[in-house]
Amino acid sequence: MPRHLISIHDLTAAEVAGLFRLAADVKANRSKYENHMHRKTLGMIFEKSSTRTRVSFEAGMAQMGGQALFLSSRDIQLGRGEPISDTAQVLSRYIDGIMARTFAHQTVTDLAKYGTIPVINGLTDDLHPCQGLTDYFTLMEVFGGLDALRGRKLAYVGDGNNMAHSLMLGATKVGMDVAIASPKGYEVKERYAGLARQDAQAAGTKVILTNDPVEAVKDASAVYTDVWASMGQESEQQERVKAFKGFTVDSALMSHARKEAVFLHCLPAHRGEEVSAEVCDGPQSRIFDEAENRLHVQKAIMLWLMAGVEI
Ligand code: CP
Ligand code: NVA
Repeated sequence: MPRHLISIHDLTAAEVAGLFRLAADVKANRSKYENHMHRKTLGMIFEKSSTRTRVSFEAGMAQMGGQALFLSSRDIQLGRGEPISDTAQVLSRYIDGIMARTFAHQTVTDLAKYGTIPVINGLTDDLHPCQGLTDYFTLMEVFGGLDALRGRKLAYVGDGNNMAHSLMLGATKVGMDVAIASPKGYEVKERYAGLARQDAQAAGTKVILTNDPVEAVKDASAVYTDVWASMGQESEQQERVKAFKGFTVDSALMSHARKEAVFLHCLPAHRGEEVSAEVCDGPQSRIFDEAENRLHVQKAIMLWLMAGVEI
């Protein structure tokens, strides 16, 4: 059975460290990997929109001598009701890996269950592991190595969504504490909080869940936010804007973090809602380094899962 990347929870801390070493090498020595995906094809299934995920996976495959196929669910038979199990088995006969962005998390787990090739989760309603890994990789660069992350705190302020879940599950893998502040009724799912707490207990890190943004941000080395209405929740936009009052990451909130704290956002961002323009485009922001790193980290993930490169 091939390995997949469905959730950061499935990776050991050593594997995360290995992926980050490989990603750093990919970033520093791009030409070294230019033939590693020769004659390999990645199928990219998208049920939702994307800028970063689509372009970074596609460019990543091209840079390593392979190719990527954009498979919009509107165009392939999946969108007309062909079973996921059949889709997974058929694609497994043609290509070398699948990256999928879906609504239901189970669509991605089913692709892995029924197919025989590696599956990479490119975002589901529940998780966004490629982004979460990239965020900790970016913090590793900012603070000067993986050891420098140990004992630091990441604060996530906003919706208890796919990003909150993946950041919560990733923190323990790099030895960080994580604090999630969400409005009442918009907290993280207990299922993922439970997994994160278990991992944190074993790793000796903390998972703090609160409804108070100031409590979360206090003493943090990184402050993170994401949109208030995720893809598929557009009709809830108005009521969410009301519910998330007081959860905007602005300079006043940032002042509770450590002096060296950086601001991260997976993007796309809504300036004036979850983050002020001043913070999003200010000196503490690392959003474009973060976006760039998607490319390097995902190339490392593909090298590991699809080309047998050891981590
Ligand atoms: N952060 C992220 O996944 O961006 P896209 O939705 O543009 O892929
Ligand atoms: N939570 C957001 C992340 C986008 C990258 C969404 O699911 O729309």
